[in-house]
Order: sequence, then structure tokens, then C-alpha cells
Amino acid sequence: MKQMRTQVGIVGAGPAGLMLGHLLHLEGIDSIIVENRSKEHVIERVRAGVLEHGSVQQLVDAGVGDRLLREGMRHRSVWLCFDNRRHRVDFEALTGGRTITVYGQNEVVKDLIGARAASGRPLYFEADRVTIADVDTERPRMHGRIDGRDEAIACDFVAGCDGFHGISRASLRPADYVTFERTYPFGWLGILAQAAPSSDELVYALHSRGFALFSMRSSTVTRLYVQSAADEPLEPWTDERIWDELEARFACEDGWSPTRGPILQKGITGMRSFVLEPMRFGRLFLAGDAAHIVPPTGAKGLNLALSDVRVLARAIAAYYHAARTDLLDRYSEQCLARVWAAQRFACWMTAMLHRAPDDTAFDHRRQIAELNHVIRSPAAATSFAESYVGPALD
Ligand code: APR
Ligand code: PHB
Repeated sequence: MKQMRTQVGIVGAGPAGLMLGHLLHLEGIDSIIVENRSKEHVIERVRAGVLEHGSVQQLVDAGVGDRLLREGMRHRSVWLCFDNRRHRVDFEALTGGRTITVYGQNEVVKDLIGARAASGRPLYFEADRVTIADVDTERPRMHGRIDGRDEAIACDFVAGCDGFHGISRASLRPADYVTFERTYPFGWLGILAQAAPSSDELVYALHSRGFALFSMRSSTVTRLYVQSAADEPLEPWTDERIWDELEARFACEDGWSPTRGPILQKGITGMRSFVLEPMRFGRLFLAGDAAHIVPPTGAKGLNLALSDVRVLARAIAAYYHAARTDLLDRYSEQCLARVWAAQRFACWMTAMLHRAPDDTAFDHRRQIAELNHVIRSPAAATSFAESYVGPALD
């Protein structure tokens, strides 16, 4: 077995792993990224799409924001649709100029893979049977089958950026961590449609039949979601039924509705909230979905992944450049404060906008009252807007 050596071993080439590798590269720190799927799979996978104001700035500051600034769609507000009416919440006015940008997560990943290739630093796709060991020592290791050979990689640090189903979290001793979890009795059926978006802004809707969301990916592709059961089969959801259901849930007196078009892709995902504490174990650091999951209603998952690795890259840089370990020691605490703020917001949005199986007419009226509060109270609207656009970069 050949022995490779790097400063930071990174498991997973999603937004967390790739951005960490890039930020470390900018600091002159070496890393090896190992990813078990193919490059095509990672680039094609349709995921989240909303970047907070600070995430955009982070990508631009790191020199990977050119295409994002050109092709990303800047959104100044969102619509809340309920009781047959749409109401605009003006983020830009409520937050002193902050906005969000719609740009597919896979586009972020594509840009980061490009930056990795330009850096000349290693990124191995289709790495099999990746494991991590010795994280309690000064020389943690990653093992795996890379380019058809069994390799051992000696590292100073390992970053577990391998998502919710990865091996990093599974390699921990249960006595060393605590988890906090909630699953929801519904899911989202998501479609990608070849149709010009009929609204410039996202539309979040609550209807007595349940939640619906209108989003987009480009001037010709619409992304839509409709609340479904958590583990429903896809087959009964014919294209026509999906459009009918979307139209029913978005019905409003101004006559707006999503434009129909050929459905390019559909899938159902369950919803969960999950946090693992702490996020550091000796020389292993978890980041992104490996450590936490938020229900997608608040659009925070991608942003949390990016903010975790910003904190981690700074801490690792302080270790190499100034022999400081205090930022590494504070990693968990710093990330978890933001993770819990996002959990609060995502839970609140989810509860306000979905219909649970045991909900009564009382619950629906209470949700409508909550939505009215958000659009009528400047204080409530500001709180919503601040959470949605996310905190300013420090
Ligand atoms: N070995 C190597 N790589 C792995 C392994 C493994 N055993 N298991 C998973 N991976 C890879 C996955 O294939 C994926 O490319 O780790 C990567 C994890 O990426 P993401 O799941 O995108 O997670 P993260 O980078 O934390 O980004 C979070 O993803 O799910 C969305 O809503 C979420 O937007 C958020 C974002
Ligand atoms: C998306 O565009 O995929 C999207 C937008 C907003 C959300 C979740 C997903 O809250």
C-alpha cells in the first residue's frame, strides 16, 4: 500500500468539501479530497438553490463568484401566498439592502471543481471504501481505494464533509456525541420544468391542501415543489396531477399561476431536522450535512455548509500560520450557534407553511394568523427577512 501525505484530508466533494479545499488552497495549505461518486453525478445532482447575501460575498471574495455574478438571479423579495392573495416581503428594504441569489447548488459545485482543477491540488472521484482512523492522534489517516489502488493518506487534520449518509459521522463512538432530531410527517415532491418562470421572485404558498413553492433555475427552467406524504410512491403523481395540484395551491385573486411546461425531472424527499454535537472529535472536524440537516423550507442547508467551512478554514489557517489552536477549539461552538439559529428559522417556516396529517381547522386558522402577522407587522416582517437573507459576513 502506498502512503500519501497531506495537511488536510477531506471526505466528500459537495459544497462543504470543495469550498474548504479552495479556502485552504488560498491560504497555501494542501489538501486531498476524496469523493465516492463520479464527477458527472456530483455536477448533475439537482439540489438546493438559494444563496444568502453572505454566501454570495464569500464565493466572490474567494474568487469563485464570476459566473455566479453573471448568471445567478438576484432576488430582492419573496411572495407569501395564502387565503387567495399574494403578499410581497421586501427583503432589500427590510434589511438595509441585503438580497438573496438563486443559483443551483450544482452550479456552485461546478465552479468549485473548476477552481480545484486550476489549483492543481488533488481531487479523486469514485473513491471506494473510504475510512478514517486515528483521529485522536496527531496523525489521523484516511484509507480508500483511489484510482484503483488501496491508499493510506496521512493527514494533520481530517474534515468530514460527506453529507448526511457519509462515513465520517458513522465512524464516531456513540458515547462521544449527542444528536437532536425531528422528522416531519410529510415530504416535498420537487420538479424541474422546461418553462420560463412566470414570477421574478420565489412564491411560498400555504393552502388548505398543503404547501407549495415556486422557484427557478434560469430564464427557461422553473423549479417547483408541492407538499406530499414523506414516503409516497412517485408513480401516481402524473405530470398533469402535479400541475393541477400546483395550480390549486397557488390560486390567488391576481390571477398569477406558474407556467406549465415539460417536466424534466421529479423526485420526493423527506424532511428532517438533525444536529450532532459537538462537531469536532480530536483532529476530525465535521462540516455541512454530515453534522446537521435543516428542512428545506428556510433554504439554509447550502448556506450552513459554506459557513461551517469558512470557520474551519480560518481555524486551520491560524494553526499553520500562527501556531494557534484556540480557533480550532472554538469551531464547534461557533458553528453550532449558527446551526441552531437556522434550525429555529427552518422549523418556524415549516410549521407555518405545511399541513400535518393530524392538523385541525384550528391549526390552519392559526397558520393564516401567523402569515398575516408576518405581512402586517413591520417587526415580524423584519425578523423574517433578516433570517432569510442570513447574517452579514463578519
Ligand atoms: N466517501 C466519499 N465521499 C462521500 C461518501 C463516502 N463514503 N459519502 C458521501 N460522500 C460524498 C457525497 O457523494 C457528496 O458528494 O460527500 C458529498 C457530500 O456533499 P453534500 O451532500 O452536498 O453535503 P454538503 O457538502 O455538506 O452540502 C450541504 O447539500 O443536501 C444539500 O441541502 C443540503 O444544500 C445542502 C448541501
Ligand atoms: C430551490 O430553489 O430549490 C429552493 C428554494 C427555496 C427553498 C428550497 C429550495 O426554501
